[in-house]
Amino acid sequence: MDLLTDSKAFQRTCRQWRADGLRTALVPTMGFFHDGHVSLMRWARANAERVAVSLFVNPTQFGPEEDLAAYPRDPERDAARAREAGVDVLFTPTPGTLYAPGHATWVQVPELAEHLCGKTRPVHFRGVATVVTKLLLLATPTVAVFGEKDWQQLAIIRRMVRDLDIPVQIVGRPIFREPDGLAMSSRNVYLAPDERAQAPNLHQGLRLAADMVAQGERDADKVLAAVRDHYARTLPLGRLDYLAFVTPDTIQPTTDLAVRTRLAVAMYLGKARLIDNVDVNPNPAA
Ligand code: PAF
Repeated sequence: MDLLTDSKAFQRTCRQWRADGLRTALVPTMGFFHDGHVSLMRWARANAERVAVSLFVNPTQFGPEEDLAAYPRDPERDAARAREAGVDVLFTPTPGTLYAPGHATWVQVPELAEHLCGKTRPVHFRGVATVVTKLLLLATPTVAVFGEKDWQQLAIIRRMVRDLDIPVQIVGRPIFREPDGLAMSSRNVYLAPDERAQAPNLHQGLRLAADMVAQGERDADKVLAAVRDHYARTLPLGRLDYLAFVTPDTIQPTTDLAVRTRLAVAMYLGKARLIDNVDVNPNPAA
């Protein structure tokens, strides 16, 4: 595996792959790899001839009060895990390399960033869309792979790629979970033991909602009330940021449970802010 820190060198390598007619995959990450990241790399390895992983804790997607400085980092362990997963190039630029002094260009998809995380993290998706565009332009991959835990992020990236005619296939991969159901996240290390013990209830609440709808419940308020009640009982250390049904592609709030929706949640738990989501399908057997 090659370790590259220079954007131009990364661009040259990826261009050569394309010139050689190879199918290439990019896995953009912020590092501190868990098994979910590794599963994205393994999917890329199985579906492309060359695999690049970017590891960059992107400062522009953090608000001034957020955890940029504290964000967990372990570059040596990350490199070892990427190597084991069969990655060809690990690209680890510094902020100065990726953002030139005077950087003034932003990519935004405001309609899809209006709700859910966009409300509490106003600059977040602008930072994500901009850095992902930059990475896609540097790597020009055949396919780019993202996890579905960040469902709103994935919807924004899909729309951005479509609207800007960026020639890449975007692949979303299912959420990777701990055996007790907690969605894997680099930020789970922030959880104290008592918080970690309550955290799997976040997913249980979503499952409860999906099951209610699958069994015929169509009253969104009733379903949300049941989930809130579940959280009040099982997650007393948590503070709910949002819990909402949204349209899966356009990320607009909805109460129409006769069609497929996504139920998304964000909760503050100690120093962590956990997010999760679930497919809500009124006709699971169909
Ligand atoms: O999901 C992430 O880890 C980040 O938001 C991403 C897509 C790598 C952009 O910095």
